[in-house]
Amino acid sequence: MKVCVVGTGYVGLTTGVSLAFLGHDVTCVEIDQNKVEMLRAGRCPIYEPGMEDLLSEASANLRFTTSFAEGVPGADVVFVAVQTPSSADGSPDLRYLRSAAETVAQHLDHPFTVVVNKSTVPIGSGNWVDAILRDSFAQREDRPEGCEFAVASNPEFLREGNAIHDTLYPDRIVIGSDNPRSLEVLNQLYRPIINQTFTAPGFLPRPDDIGAVPLVSTDLASAELIKYAANAFLALKISYVNEIGQLAGKVGADITEVARGIGLDQRIGSRFLQPGIGWGGSCFGKDTKALIATAGEYNYEMPIVRAARDVNSRQRQIAVERLQDELRILKGRRIGLLGIAFKPNTDDLRDSPAIDIAKLLVARGARVKLHDPIAGERFKREQPELAPHLSETIDGLFDDCDAVVLVTEWAQYLEMDWSKFVGLMRTPILLDGRHALDADRMTRLGYRYLAISG
Ligand code: UDX
Repeated sequence: MKVCVVGTGYVGLTTGVSLAFLGHDVTCVEIDQNKVEMLRAGRCPIYEPGMEDLLSEASANLRFTTSFAEGVPGADVVFVAVQTPSSADGSPDLRYLRSAAETVAQHLDHPFTVVVNKSTVPIGSGNWVDAILRDSFAQREDRPEGCEFAVASNPEFLREGNAIHDTLYPDRIVIGSDNPRSLEVLNQLYRPIINQTFTAPGFLPRPDDIGAVPLVSTDLASAELIKYAANAFLALKISYVNEIGQLAGKVGADITEVARGIGLDQRIGSRFLQPGIGWGGSCFGKDTKALIATAGEYNYEMPIVRAARDVNSRQRQIAVERLQDELRILKGRRIGLLGIAFKPNTDDLRDSPAIDIAKLLVARGARVKLHDPIAGERFKREQPELAPHLSETIDGLFDDCDAVVLVTEWAQYLEMDWSKFVGLMRTPILLDGRHALDADRMTRLGYRYLAISG
């Protein structure tokens, strides 16, 4: 099928490259000329494992351009995957989506095109995009005869760092539209994934346990709500284990054991029960905020989602308080933060706990150093105020520190020889913000090991 993807952020790029890999004919439209040049040269503007390999495997079916006129005409499906950042009141800023929809409508010419909202948008945005498309299309003097289109929602559930895996081997595919023909087109587009008939890429073999991928084919509003409800549920699962973790600390229980014990109940499930500093990233914070904002438009309170957010921001405060309890005085102390990216295998710094914790520590007079195996350059660009605190080496981070906090559980940190660093510290306090290190081993090596939860 002929596919156009508007926007080459995480979602757009992964969608475009994966569909091209599956054999569809894909054009990605991106307004940033630099990004287009990079992608044409086979380089990926974001850090995402496997993306450059897939780009190269899919290159015969894949084009990048700044021109809508090269992508939209003739397309069976146009994915709109532009950014929808949070505005001050928590609702997503839809100006890029509006502009993309208006421009798409100026170039539609096919007998039937499905315009898919791939960006995470508030419930009801499908109708809104439909209205924009129709208005913009109606204004065209060169309006082609016999050109029809309909809007669909196809939320993504990919995790950064696992984007290609989650796209090719998803738990489910959700499509929503009030137009049955669009559902049929999307069903056909995703056939190779639903039936798992494609040849797996060499670097990412098909998991043994994957069967046919369930397809949830529903109405527009339900698909839009599924996306928010899923992310909010995962977010509250994490906050739940973190809330129990604080109680575990008080009663002398081990939260890792508790999480294992509850996760083995198949009704609960063990995933997203890893206790620690809490979630960050582009989705959970933004989506929970947007869900509350949408509910507010209907005068409806969402106390569970609100509590999940509160618990999550409290975890960051608790990290600072743990250090204060231990060091008594934070002023003038040197604190090293291991990891800046919001989670391993990405250089994404959006809503990164490390940045928040660094700011809280600086506000209390501490001297902070930060290290990350991958995100250092992005950190310097995006956080110029904190940039002087970047430590280029792990030795440099530990050197003369009063305490070190493991904020992001990069494999490199988990696997390094911790015995080399303890002697560099002024006081060997180690706060494991992710419950990722072996407490007994760290204690044997001479660290004063502290966990974020009990
Ligand atoms: C998430 C969703 O998983 C994905 O389905 C959605 O489309 C986008 O948002 P992502 O933000 O890339 O993906 O990361 P994810 O792996 O879900 O982790 C989110 C955050 O939760 C990270 O900060 C991670 O460290 C934290 N986390 C995750 C925990 O603290 N504990 C856990 O058990 C799992």
